[in-house]
Amino acid sequence: MLKVRNLTKEFKDNIAVNNISFTLEKGHIVGLLGPNGAGKSTTIKTIVGLLRKTSGEITIAGNPNTSNEAKRKFSYVPEVPELYDMLTPREHLQFIAYAYNVHNWEERADNLLERYDLGDKQDKLVKELSKGMKQKVSICCGLLPDPELYLFDEPMIGLDPKAIRETKLLFKQLSEQGKTIFVSTHLLDSIENLCNRVMVMKNGNIIVDGDIETLRAMIRDSEGASLEDLFLEVTKDE
Ligand SMILES: Nc1ncnc2c1ncn2[C@@H]1O[C@H](COP(=O)(O)OP(=O)(O)OP(=O)(O)O)[C@@H](O)[C@H]1O
Ligand SMILES: [Mg+2]
Repeated sequence: MLKVRNLTKEFKDNIAVNNISFTLEKGHIVGLLGPNGAGKSTTIKTIVGLLRKTSGEITIAGNPNTSNEAKRKFSYVPEVPELYDMLTPREHLQFIAYAYNVHNWEERADNLLERYDLGDKQDKLVKELSKGMKQKVSICCGLLPDPELYLFDEPMIGLDPKAIRETKLLFKQLSEQGKTIFVSTHLLDSIENLCNRVMVMKNGNIIVDGDIETLRAMIRDSEGASLEDLFLEVTKDE
């Protein structure tokens, strides 16, 4: 579904993503982990075409990531919601529906707003919503078009426990429908039993790529260790 080959992204004074390669299979949920500044958001923003890559190749379902064919195949939920203060949640969904030509959008929108407890907020201006509510609207916007590939940058931040549970359930359902999910997160408990695979980044490099057992095998005496324990061990500075 997604192929990244020798991707490098340099900013003026640093290499944020350093020659990384990976492939995401259809139907998988893949967690992208790593300390602050590891390069997770830069990787995702380069995949979705918001940042220009320095070098490397990115294809989505066989199409170059910046092509229109590729853009129709994915949706992206940014780490900070990018919403219009003067539109309501429902108007955001309507806007996405028109932009992506979503059929039955009203039924899908009702369902998403309901799942995220936004039913009674759908006609309020976004500027009047709480931080977590804005995050929920941003997630609903990402879910509405029903694409093949989802790229979520820290979607659980600021969500209440019910919305976190709902999001995990949605991820499971989407993957059962053959959709691919790439999700960066620091909430390791919330993805421990959800991801088929975890990728750990540090200083722009992928230092682990595999299932949790692969990660466990890299560390001595790690039987029974949680994902958090394993993460801290593998990312610690020597
Ligand atoms: N627009 C930018 N200009 C210059 N440097 C940037 C820019 N965006 C990110 N960086 C740098 O790139 C590196 C990776 O940042 P990135 O945002 O990808 O990290 P992250 O893994 O998403 O971290 P976090 O967990 O804090 O969200 C950092 O060193 C950061 O300072
Ligand atoms: Mg980030």
